Amino acid sequence: MPLAPTPGPAPTVDLTGKVAIVTGSGRGLGLAYATALAAAGAAVVVNDLDAEVAEKAAAGIVAAGGRAVAEAVAVGTAEAADRLVERAVSAFGRLDVLVTNAGILRDRVLWKMTDEDFDAVVDTHLRGTFTCARAAAVRMREQGDGGRLILVGSPAGQRGNFGQTNYAAAKAGVAAMARTWSMELAKAGITVNTVVPVAATAMTETIPAFAPYVAAMRDGAPLPDFLRKGEGFGTVEDCAALVPFLASDAAADVTGQCVGIGGDRLALWSHPEEIATAYADGGWTPETLAAAWHTSVGRVPQTVGIPAPRLPEA
Ligand SMILES: NC(=O)c1ccc[n+]([C@@H]2O[C@H](COP(=O)([O-])OP(=O)(O)OC[C@H]3O[C@@H](n4cnc5c(N)ncnc54)[C@H](O)[C@@H]3O)[C@@H](O)[C@H]2O)c1
Repeated sequence: MPLAPTPGPAPTVDLTGKVAIVTGSGRGLGLAYATALAAAGAAVVVNDLDAEVAEKAAAGIVAAGGRAVAEAVAVGTAEAADRLVERAVSAFGRLDVLVTNAGILRDRVLWKMTDEDFDAVVDTHLRGTFTCARAAAVRMREQGDGGRLILVGSPAGQRGNFGQTNYAAAKAGVAAMARTWSMELAKAGITVNTVVPVAATAMTETIPAFAPYVAAMRDGAPLPDFLRKGEGFGTVEDCAALVPFLASDAAADVTGQCVGIGGDRLALWSHPEEIATAYADGGWTPETLAAAWHTSVGRVPQTVGIPAPRLPEA
């Protein structure tokens, strides 16, 4: 349902004095988030498991007039999470914003997925989000003046995706944790939201339907409207604006939400809810279920998977 925003003066998004950690921010979306947070005035701990890209990203932010330090560590463990929070505090004195962006893919269909494929993805996305958020929440609660946890989900976690058992499970878990933590941390003034981005990065630019457009974009051509609006697909910078907004006072009342961003599109994702119900006095039996399924709740089966891109006619 497209909604036209009510025109009005835009509030200032000023993060001066705020301190943020962005995991996996050496490149891709994380780098765009870190850059956008720094441009809005926040000091940023740039994290990546790749020390070279982390240092380069932090140096780039500093060269542009921002405040940033690099902390190279693989998120996942409690020790890595503690290191990141300690670095924010030692470098900048406090912690206000955590963006749990670090991520990897190990795609395989279920029957070929190894334990290692599963564990690597779950450790990075799900455990990494849990451990970093826990360490940040402890620090933010001690500080006593609120905070922001900005988690990163995915359309695959919202809908399932072929070949992504590990990733879909981890990202669905991230959204579920955000809903839970938004309740647990409300009293402390800490908001918790999930960003569901779509952008051309190392992770996505090889999607066959998008590849030629991404290649043209890299050569300076604009992405067509059917991608920017129809698919909500664009550059990492298109996604980045959402993060300083969610980190700001303007979003103090936004919590527990899954927010989609990509290209020209901003979207609010629904949360799972019962959409059809039926009742049997005294409870259901296998036989009464078999008799009633197709004429009651089974009349509205839900779709699965990310819809195929609607490409223009050739
Ligand atoms: N690109 C998209 O369209 C898209 C869509 C949905 C969700 N996402 C999510 O956005 C996030 C960023 O994706 P991206 O496309 O920018 O990916 P990317 O591969 O371009 O960048 C990910 C970064 O995370 C780092 N990283 C990986 N594991 C790490 C770890 N354990 N600790 C610290 N750093 C680690 C990598 O070195 C890399 O620099 C991921 O969580 C991804 O799942 C991306």
